[in-house]
Amino acid sequence: MTTELPDFFTVRDHQLWVEGVSLASLAQAHGTPLFVYSQAAMLQALAAYQKGLADRRHQICYAMKANSSLAILQTLVRAGCGLDIVSGGELERALRAGVSPSKVIFSGVGKTRTEMRRALDVGIGCFNVESVAELDVLGEVAHSMGLRAPVSLRVNPNVDAQTHPYISTGLKDNKFGIAHEDVVSTYQRAAAHPGLRVVGIDCHIGSQITQAAPYLDAMDRVLDLVQAIEAGGIRIEHIDFGGGLGINYHGDTPPSADALWQALLAKLDARGYGDRAIFIEPGRSLVGNAGVCLTEVLYLKPGEHKNFCIVDAAMNDLPRPAMYQAYHQIVPVQTPSADTATLTWDVVGPVCESGDWLGRDRPLAVRSGDCLAVLSAGAYCMSMASNYNTRGRAAEVLVSGDRVQVIRERESADDQMRLEKSLS
Ligand code: LLP
Repeated sequence: MTTELPDFFTVRDHQLWVEGVSLASLAQAHGTPLFVYSQAAMLQALAAYQKGLADRRHQICYAMKANSSLAILQTLVRAGCGLDIVSGGELERALRAGVSPSKVIFSGVGKTRTEMRRALDVGIGCFNVESVAELDVLGEVAHSMGLRAPVSLRVNPNVDAQTHPYISTGLKDNKFGIAHEDVVSTYQRAAAHPGLRVVGIDCHIGSQITQAAPYLDAMDRVLDLVQAIEAGGIRIEHIDFGGGLGINYHGDTPPSADALWQALLAKLDARGYGDRAIFIEPGRSLVGNAGVCLTEVLYLKPGEHKNFCIVDAAMNDLPRPAMYQAYHQIVPVQTPSADTATLTWDVVGPVCESGDWLGRDRPLAVRSGDCLAVLSAGAYCMSMASNYNTRGRAAEVLVSGDRVQVIRERESADDQMRLEKSLS
């Protein structure tokens, strides 16, 4: 498989560019490891959803866990997005990014009373509730504040894993959502509660989904439920189909967002629910292919069985390979000189764990001092970065045309120790 560059990344004059800026110049100016994002790539990804849903009442709530840097939230919020949050911390970020609270939905299985209170206080649009116990607590908290919390129940559609093996969160035996058979009675419970106001229904069947079929199956299951709930006199205003659409990391061929939504809306119409507002919670598909992580080759360590290419980015910066054996393409930012031999390398970081690798068995022509780009690093990389080994988190820059903005400074050792107290 040859290198496939994401949109807005090109090779010009033997150099890798993002929009109108060479990646080598960014590494030079800002150091490495460095996350670099194309604003145009994010807006293009968003535009595909907006096109797919153009003639419907809809709300696109970016799942900010994918990348929650303020400037990225601002980019998407200013282009019309709401936000899907999963913690009190994400709520504060969302507000700082300037989102209208009414466009915020709150997902997740373990919301605390404090988080509920704050979200009610600022007037978020909807809570996606995942259990009866959580529903009761939310109702009690809202009632004690003299409010009615807008709720949608996250249902577990139990889509068949045999036929769609990539789906993980929509199955019966995981912690997410309310079991299909309990949904109608839980809606009745919500509708009867003085602290709750039913507004919608929600499902999210998994992540990095590369086919339309599981979505179509899930839609059928959810619409069956809407029918049963409404037969009991409870109106479902919006239907939230979650996120999960995959991106091309390496030979993946997910449907485009607008093609997927054309198929889904046709089914919605055919079943007579085309008048409902559509909510979605995409994360990865909005930002994943808009970002790369630049890293410098520190040392080459050829060996008898393995050749190690030791770089300055590590599992703390980019945890997906270590956590999920995920594949990210890795390419040089400058075409290597003809006298550099191509060998097969394991690209590894400086962290003291064997699991600290970014790519295995990669044919690369590299020398120490070269700069490499880890592709498709816009989603679930910086947002999952840690300080393991007291490594400061990377800096981030956002490119738009030939404009470069530093959107996060590199974290210093002092930054990392700021909240700690020395023994007295
Ligand atoms: N909505 C809910 C309720 C979710 O749990 C998620 C992701 C999303 C929306 C957004 O899904 P997306 O469109 O990004 O697939 N760290 C993993 C992915 C975890 C996804 C968690 N939930 C990774 O790096 O692959």
